[in-house]
Amino acid sequence: MVRLTREVRFSVDRDWAGHVEFSRPVTNSWAGWPSAVGIVPYLRLRATVAGEPDPVTGYLCNITVIDRLLRKHAIPFTAAALREHGWRMSAEHLLEHIWEQVRPEAPSNAPLVALELCATPCLRYAIEAETPGMVYLTQQFEFAAAHRLHCAELSDAENRTTFGKCNNPNGHGHNYLLEVTVVGAADGPTGCVLPLPAFEQIVSDRVIERLDHKHLNEDTEEFRAVNPSVENIARVIWGMLAEHVAPARLHRVRVWETPKAWAEYSGV
Ligand code: NI
Repeated sequence: MVRLTREVRFSVDRDWAGHVEFSRPVTNSWAGWPSAVGIVPYLRLRATVAGEPDPVTGYLCNITVIDRLLRKHAIPFTAAALREHGWRMSAEHLLEHIWEQVRPEAPSNAPLVALELCATPCLRYAIEAETPGMVYLTQQFEFAAAHRLHCAELSDAENRTTFGKCNNPNGHGHNYLLEVTVVGAADGPTGCVLPLPAFEQIVSDRVIERLDHKHLNEDTEEFRAVNPSVENIARVIWGMLAEHVAPARLHRVRVWETPKAWAEYSGV
């Protein structure tokens, strides 16, 4: 079984008229099609199909088929939703609509197993075939903090050997990137898994305000007896959030200590 993901990028003007734009050639293969014509939403859709590649071509699915399906169902509906709801359209409903339209038309040998909508570079929504009726909402946050990797159970020499420069007695800093994923049904009156202002307020109150610009070992109760490795930071943040994201459910916490090192925790 192979999973193949294709990303389609597009901009949609709320006054979009299909017969005009669909006749335009692709003029920017990086930014996608249709191209932006001003200040308009720039969206990315990622479709994942799964199956066995053809033994001759090596193709699971021709990606042009995915491109066509995504654009056909995403662009007119997005434009119509913009006209009707303006900036307040529910991204969850947009994604669910595209999912329902595209899934029956996906090739039978390469069924659609996941669809992800990137609303901004730091906010995305996803549907997985394995969890019908659920939408995954992922948002990124950041905080800066100092820490020292040090274990009281080890000798000073052992600490230096184990943690190297990270055992510096006065600590050192990181700009941490935090990605929180919650999951739930988007069938309530808001049309959202969790309204974004509420989601952001929870993460701000529960995590960012408690960790940002702090020395984790010195300034936070959570790391007085817990070594603030990126692994433990992910687990501690999970604990800070798990009981506070209703009506959604916390799905995953991912923390980047640097662009080259990150940890994630899903509660088990
Ligand atoms: Ni460090």
